[in-house]
Amino acid sequence: MKKQAFGKSYAKIILFGEHSVVYNQPAIAIPLYSVDVNVEINKAVSGQTINCRYFDGPVEDMQDNLAGLKKLIYATLKKFSKQSESFEIKISSKLPAERGMGSSAATAVAVTRALFDYFDVHLNRDSLLEIADIEEKVTHGNPSGIDSATVSSDGGIWFIKGHENEQFNLNLPTSSLVIADSGIKGKTSEAVSLVARNLLDEPEKTKPLIKNLGEITNTAKEALTVSEPMLIGKLMDQAQKDLSALGVSNKTLDKMCAIAKTNGALGAKLTGSGLGGCMIALAPSQESAQKIATALRTKGATKTWIQTFKNYEFSMEESNGDAVK
Ligand code: MEV
Repeated sequence: MKKQAFGKSYAKIILFGEHSVVYNQPAIAIPLYSVDVNVEINKAVSGQTINCRYFDGPVEDMQDNLAGLKKLIYATLKKFSKQSESFEIKISSKLPAERGMGSSAATAVAVTRALFDYFDVHLNRDSLLEIADIEEKVTHGNPSGIDSATVSSDGGIWFIKGHENEQFNLNLPTSSLVIADSGIKGKTSEAVSLVARNLLDEPEKTKPLIKNLGEITNTAKEALTVSEPMLIGKLMDQAQKDLSALGVSNKTLDKMCAIAKTNGALGAKLTGSGLGGCMIALAPSQESAQKIATALRTKGATKTWIQTFKNYEFSMEESNGDAVK
């Protein structure tokens, strides 16, 4: 056991396949390396405490939105037969919560990594995803596992639920991705339940949308591999239409996609669970990305990020106080 231990993870952006991934269709997602979560664990004289932006106190008093994380911590302590170990966990997160960037999964992954480091035990990827899933199941109900897989990844991933995820390089050397926060909270569990309900109530409308989103993702994989930004933009627009028809977009996200398109985006869509949260737009160049990001902030996006595909280096982050109305 160490006196001090660390764990880290990143925000995630789903490029294609949110929601349809829950129904065994493929998805493509990338980690954002500059938007990270860092966890530090220090040995304590007594007690088990946690400090994060929502809570500061004993682990046993964690409630509601932290119930999944509490379950994960207790399950890991039990795994090592260290239920009465004394420690302090400190979580520092740059991820906006409930914005489709995988905040809960990123925290679960970073805490798991830190706990294994603390107990000085090697952690393989399968065990990491299995343990993170303990938290995600409580927080999101029926997670596909894509969030944990992406926030813990070293690169872009091709993900199919229940299968080993594949890392793959996105070949878009001159394009940039603009990510914009609508400032509205998006509840993953609510959005996932909404699609499940639509599948039950209107299967003839909902099933083809899910299948179509899967086909879009398959085509996008090929387009991302051979560098066809125009086609990727088109596929993003098609995906946004289908996600909107599934009921997980809203006026604000639709409006932000339209603003991005008017300002030169090749395509735009929501990312993550929707019903708020973030949208993404594909820009043909860095200059175009700056223009799109500025337009989105002027019209009310609370924050924007620009991500190149070259080396995943984060190039810009700016924010604005007001949400898009
Ligand atoms: C959430 O980031 C992605 C969803 O597809 C849910 C999931 O895959 O667990 C909406």
